[in-house]
Amino acid sequence: MSRLAGKTAIITGAARGIGQAFAERYVAEGATVAIADIDLERATATASRIGEQAFAVHLDVSDQASIDAAVKAVADRTGGIDILINNAALFDLAPIIEIRRESFEKLFSINVAGTLFTLQAVAKSMIARGKGGKIINMASQAGRRGEALVGVYCATKAAVISLTQSAGLDLIRHGINVNAIAPGVVDGEHWDHVDALFARHENLAPGEKKRLVGKAVPFGRMGTADDLTGMAVFLATKDADYIVAQTYNVDGGNWMN
Ligand SMILES: NC(=O)c1ccc[n+]([C@@H]2O[C@H](COP(=O)([O-])OP(=O)(O)OC[C@H]3O[C@@H](n4cnc5c(N)ncnc54)[C@H](O)[C@@H]3O)[C@@H](O)[C@H]2O)c1
Repeated sequence: MSRLAGKTAIITGAARGIGQAFAERYVAEGATVAIADIDLERATATASRIGEQAFAVHLDVSDQASIDAAVKAVADRTGGIDILINNAALFDLAPIIEIRRESFEKLFSINVAGTLFTLQAVAKSMIARGKGGKIINMASQAGRRGEALVGVYCATKAAVISLTQSAGLDLIRHGINVNAIAPGVVDGEHWDHVDALFARHENLAPGEKKRLVGKAVPFGRMGTADDLTGMAVFLATKDADYIVAQTYNVDGGNWMN
């Protein structure tokens, strides 16, 4: 399949996990992909494993100068950006009365400001080029409702859904579609970390939280990064031209709206 032949994508936080799976699938579909991550060493290793249609670029989405430099570097190298996946994010967990301001500021800086200002920089570049584009933000089922121990992360992902709506409505006049994907629980290094945090706060054995959340998914198991790649490809194709400002759940049936 080559549904993205000739397209250039920048995927933030693609050194590992879901972003890495998106990069692999996009390259398989014919795209050239910039693996844009704060962890340049791992991004470089990931890009070289994927092949010559992938390359690494350093990006810290919480730093405006870094965003501007990365977007310019990718546009200069490839001739223009067609697709952005705003995927980089951090997770933290604490009961409401224990939330630290430092954690709140860090998560909002990366998950919300990082998403908005990377979207803004790429949108400016797309508008200047005049060929439209596709922007996909990574939301979460966590953005659909609160969770007792996950207040800050849930709030950041609710903000991503809201920003997707506003940006989608504003940018469609430039031929730029902005939509989002809301995964449920996706196994990988991210969830290894989440499992360890829940183990500490809920007094569970390591691996137990994963087992419980997987069992609760109507589909019958946790998701994998590969479960999400079909939606990420679809939203980047012409078939999605008339889709504007939406957030799609890809979560095995966890959430309905
Ligand atoms: N894994 C899940 O269960 C799940 C569920 C719902 C939503 N999501 C969302 O999907 C996306 C990917 O999740 P994942 O599980 O692959 O996460 P992950 O933690 O495995 O990967 C995140 C990547 O982002 C990078 N990163 C961190 N800070 C950065 C920064 N300041 N600038 C640039 N890159 C930075 C990390 O180096 C890492 O490569 C995130 O937006 C996450 O919130 C994940």
